[in-house]
Amino acid sequence: MRDGALWAARHIAAAIKAKAVETDKPFVLGLPTGSTPLETYKELIRMNQAGEVSFKNVITFNMDEYVGLPEDHPESYHSFMRKNLFDFIDIPADHIHILDGNASDLRKECEDYEKAILAAGGIDLFLGGVGEDGHLAFNEPFSSINSRTRVVTLTEDTILVNSRFFGGDVNLVPKQAMTVGVATVCNAKQVLILAFGSKKARAVKEAIEGNVSHYVTLSALQLHPDGIVVLDEPAAGELKVNSYRYFKATEQ
Ligand code: GLP
Repeated sequence: MRDGALWAARHIAAAIKAKAVETDKPFVLGLPTGSTPLETYKELIRMNQAGEVSFKNVITFNMDEYVGLPEDHPESYHSFMRKNLFDFIDIPADHIHILDGNASDLRKECEDYEKAILAAGGIDLFLGGVGEDGHLAFNEPFSSINSRTRVVTLTEDTILVNSRFFGGDVNLVPKQAMTVGVATVCNAKQVLILAFGSKKARAVKEAIEGNVSHYVTLSALQLHPDGIVVLDEPAAGELKVNSYRYFKATEQ
């Protein structure tokens, strides 16, 4: 896992620096929450503090947020991002975008989010994780491949998996969330997905070797011209031997 997490951090930093050489326009970065990106965020913080990369000209858009959870709740994605990344890097506060799960008009909030992404010039790189059922952001099974930012109802599975952050009590997990759509993610110029651990092996197998389907929304990445999936060995554990060998060979 560590190698993949560090590789991702270096890849992101290199992409930010490469754009800065070409243009003054900001680098637009899509970001996830969850336990998967934590090591990558730590490395980005280290690199930033060591002067190896700056976020001064980076604009971020987070993938999702719970509906109705106060912004300062320890498990809100606002809190998560402050605690695990934003409080420790040189990104200007007004460059950070996270959906407001307490907006009075949630629908308008979602529409405005899509507009803000467009106004920023589109997302250069969307970093993501994957749910155990193959969901991308909070695009649960049966989310359209063409979906855009919207309010969604979480599945019982996701509520159960995420209850670990709410003291194991499923009743404390919000039932709804706001999420960028599958198409919002796939419209990014590059999509970089991290999957670590055997709990992700089935989702990885279905997304990579299965058909493109609204059942496993990560599978939409198959249609992306520049999609990267970073796996550790356990997450690759359900792939066919031939698939595994092929990806190992291309890595060399
Ligand atoms: C949530 C988030 C996803 C994330 C997934 C996996 O459902 N909405 O963006 O990829 O959890 O989380 P973890 O990285 O903790 O396994």
